[in-house]
Amino acid sequence: MSRIYSFIQTASIFVSLSLVFSQSAPQTALVTQVPGFNGTLPSKQYAGYVTIDESHGKELYYYFVESERNSSEDPVVLWLNGGPGCSSFDGFVYEHGPFNFEAPKKQGDLPTLHPNPYSWSKVSNIIYLDSPAGVGFSYSRNTSDYITGDLKTASDTHTFLLKWFELYQEFLANPFFVAGESYAGVYVPTLASNIVKGLDSGITPAINFKGYMVGNGVTDEVFDGNALVPFTHGMGLISNDLYEEVVNKCQGNYYAPTTDNCQKLLSEVDNEVDGLNIYDILEPCYHGSGSRSTSTDSLRLPSSFKKLGGTERPLPVRKRMFGRAWPLRAPVRAGIIPTWPQLSKNNNVPCMSDEVATLWCNNAAVRKAIHAAEESVAGPWNLCTDRISYTHDAGSMIPYHKNLTSQGFRALIYSGDHDMCVPFTGTEAWTRSIGYKIISLWRPWISQDQVAGYTQEYDKNLTFLTVKGAGHTVPEYKPQEALAFFSRWLAGKSI
Ligand SMILES: *[C@@H]1O[C@H](CO)[C@@H](O)[C@H](O)[C@H]1NC(C)=O
Ligand SMILES: *[C@@H]1O[C@H](CO)[C@@H](O)[C@H](O)[C@H]1NC(C)=O
Ligand SMILES: *[C@@H]1O[C@H](CO)[C@@H](O)[C@H](O)[C@H]1NC(C)=O
Ligand SMILES: *[C@@H]1O[C@H](CO)[C@@H](O)[C@H](O)[C@H]1NC(C)=O
Ligand SMILES: *[C@@H]1O[C@H](CO)[C@@H](O)[C@H](O)[C@H]1NC(C)=O
Repeated sequence: MSRIYSFIQTASIFVSLSLVFSQSAPQTALVTQVPGFNGTLPSKQYAGYVTIDESHGKELYYYFVESERNSSEDPVVLWLNGGPGCSSFDGFVYEHGPFNFEAPKKQGDLPTLHPNPYSWSKVSNIIYLDSPAGVGFSYSRNTSDYITGDLKTASDTHTFLLKWFELYQEFLANPFFVAGESYAGVYVPTLASNIVKGLDSGITPAINFKGYMVGNGVTDEVFDGNALVPFTHGMGLISNDLYEEVVNKCQGNYYAPTTDNCQKLLSEVDNEVDGLNIYDILEPCYHGSGSRSTSTDSLRLPSSFKKLGGTERPLPVRKRMFGRAWPLRAPVRAGIIPTWPQLSKNNNVPCMSDEVATLWCNNAAVRKAIHAAEESVAGPWNLCTDRISYTHDAGSMIPYHKNLTSQGFRALIYSGDHDMCVPFTGTEAWTRSIGYKIISLWRPWISQDQVAGYTQEYDKNLTFLTVKGAGHTVPEYKPQEALAFFSRWLAGKSI
């Protein structure tokens, strides 16, 4: 390894040689060994930093997994988790990364990593990016960069992509997609819009941008804010009487109640659903290490019902999910958005745990192996950080979606239908509101001879899709179904 490294350093002195080397992924970024995993890596993996502002020392961290199928032909997908403030290692560790992480049996040990049969790298090259600076392993030497917002984040991520494709030029011709979930419902369309503007102005390298995907994505104050009441009613979480009363008193406006009567009824709705796990209403709520025994096992439910909504990952390790969207009925409004640690006051956000990711990402040997800076430089890794101050300054995402789809970019908008954090009811309503002709009416979609959810396809390649029984982070709950719709959609097939 060190021989190759010094050779590249030497080669860079000679322009002709360094040109040859710029044709292939940087060897210095190659991940040769992943602590906790003892097998042969299923595909090449690279990781490191891209400096997006030299004068500030602003460094964005990425982890790149080549496709296990045909990396030269398969699309490149950029994956973003939300927050704002949450690391994309959430996706890597818990959702669709190349490994399943098994919690250590003894204290002090590292998690054990197994190959993930439903990794999205089965069919795509995938970049996990920690964004904006200050999140995950990304950092800046000038902490004024930690005060940021939607527009700055989109422009920084665009800069990252242009520089990344200079480093990995052999992937420039592959179809490129942007994907993400939760608050990435804002990151994805704003970034896509910057990419398209860049292409229009002739910026190079020219990214072969084809479309984007958003899962349980924050989109619009009004649609998202009005989504909870019909969701709780449809799911049988509030009585029909309360529903009729709240419809009558609030006149369909739940996002900004104008009367005390309406406000009072909305508080009743909140009380009814208070004890639930908002990321998946069928999952138990983890109340901290003292009461870990909380489990559906003790409930007298048919086993098929118990399984609905439970994760099918072989190693369900997350007990308390910390911070991927917001609390109940607190839709994203313009202005400063509190990060999760700030909202949760002593980590009180229900109902899951991120212990495994936190343990692995903060281990010094792991950080060295995956080319992440030491803790003294990049700070401790948190699933969701409070070191950024973030302003929602891009407004509603609906105009972005209209603009992008009308220019021919494909969009898949999907929802785990048991998520109460960004409920499908709001997403179904805003996709319909765009007003495109329906190409294929609401219908079940199938995976492994079973109904896996429902979909409605619109003109201009806008698709709305639900995943039956999945919570907020779809591939975490339904990995097999998630890989099924992901690969069909990337291939341009009907789901
Ligand atoms: C690698 O790990 C697997 C479990 O993940 C274990 O069964 C196997 O024996 C290990 N192999 C080596 C060479 O340590
Ligand atoms: C991958 O796809 C390219 C382009 O279609 C093809 O030339 C190459 O043989 C494929 N490689 C493998 C391993 O299938
Ligand atoms: C950090 O960046 C800000 C804004 O560009 C600048 O005013 C300030 O001088 C920088 N601080 C340091 C220590 O470089
Ligand atoms: C739509 O996108 C184009 C180019 O990407 C941009 O010039 C235009 O301002 C956008 N329009 C709206 C309404 O956002
Ligand atoms: C939808 O996407 C497919 C595959 O990229 C493309 O062939 C087709 O022209 C697109 N349709 C519309 C209406 O944009």
